[in-house]
Amino acid sequence: MIAELEKKTVSMKDAGRVKEIIMSMQRGGEKKLQVISDFDMTLTRFGHNGKRCPTCHNIVDNSQLVSADCKKKLKDLCNTYYPIEIDHTRSIDEKYPLMVEWWTKAHDLLCQQNIRKDMIAPIVKDSGAMLREGYEVFFNGLHQSNIPLFIFSAGIGDILEEIIRQAGVFHDNVNVVSNYMDFDEKGMLIGFKGELIHTYNKNNSVLRDKEYFKQLDNRTNIIVLGDTLGDLTMADGVTNVENILKIGFLNDKVEEQRQMFLDAYDIVLEKDETLDAVNGILKNIGAKN
Ligand code: C5P
Ligand code: MG
Repeated sequence: MIAELEKKTVSMKDAGRVKEIIMSMQRGGEKKLQVISDFDMTLTRFGHNGKRCPTCHNIVDNSQLVSADCKKKLKDLCNTYYPIEIDHTRSIDEKYPLMVEWWTKAHDLLCQQNIRKDMIAPIVKDSGAMLREGYEVFFNGLHQSNIPLFIFSAGIGDILEEIIRQAGVFHDNVNVVSNYMDFDEKGMLIGFKGELIHTYNKNNSVLRDKEYFKQLDNRTNIIVLGDTLGDLTMADGVTNVENILKIGFLNDKVEEQRQMFLDAYDIVLEKDETLDAVNGILKNIGAKN
C-alpha cells in the first residue's frame, strides 16, 4: 500500500492493524490529522557517517561556551544516566527520579557557565546537529497542508527552535513545548523556565497551554513520533482521539529493546536515519509533499 513501509528498516507487530488505522486516517484526510513529535533522535539524526549526532543538550555541552572542567562533569553525567534512560530492565517508575537528577545536575552546571543568549545561534551553526533525511518534505508538507505539528521535547527549546529556524523549516504550524532557557537582563543564562521536562514526564502534567489541544479537537487522527518509551504519553492531552498511530525510532541497543518497541509502537523504524516511512504515510493520508 505504501512503498516506504516495505523498507527493511520497518517492522510491525500487527501490520493488519496498522493498515486499518492508516485507511481510517485516509478517509479523514489531512483536515482531521495532527502530528505530535519528540525532537532529539526522532526529528534529528542519531548518527551520521559512523558518528553520533548531538542532542540539544550536547550542542551546548560540546560548545566553546562551556569550560573543560564543566564539559568533563557533563560527560560523566551522560555516561552515568544515559544508559539508565534506555535500560530496558528498569521500570519507568525507577528511572523517573534518576532522570530528574540528571537534568537538574546538568542544568545547574550550565547555569554556572556565563552562557549568553546571543551565543545560541552561532553554537547551533557550528554544531553537527542534523535533522533526519527527508525533513524538508516532512516540515514543508505539513505546513502546506495546514497540519499542526506539536514538538514535545525534553531537550532545550531555544536550541531546538534555532535548529529548525536555521534549517528554514520553522513554520507557523509548529508549536514547541520544551525546557526554555531563562536569561537575565544582561542576556546571561540564569535558569530554566517552568516545570522541568525529562524523558518520563512528557504528558499532560507539563503542558502549560491547556488550550492547544482543545482548539484542535476536530483533529482526531493523531500520528505520534518518538524514540523512547517516554514519548508514548505525549498525546495524553489530546481531547478527542479517533485513531492514533505511534511510530518509534529504535536507534540504540536495538537487540535489547526490539521486543519492547514492537509491543509499544505500531511501527518501529530500526536504525533508519530517514523520515521516509513517516513521509510515505503522510502522503497516503493526503498531506502535500
Ligand atoms: O527531544 P527529547 O525529548 O528527545 O530530548 C531529550 C533527550 O536529551 C534525552 O533523550 C536525553 O538522552 C538527552 N539529554 C542529554 N543531556 C542531558 C539531558 C538529556 O543529551 N543533560
Ligand atoms: Mg528523543
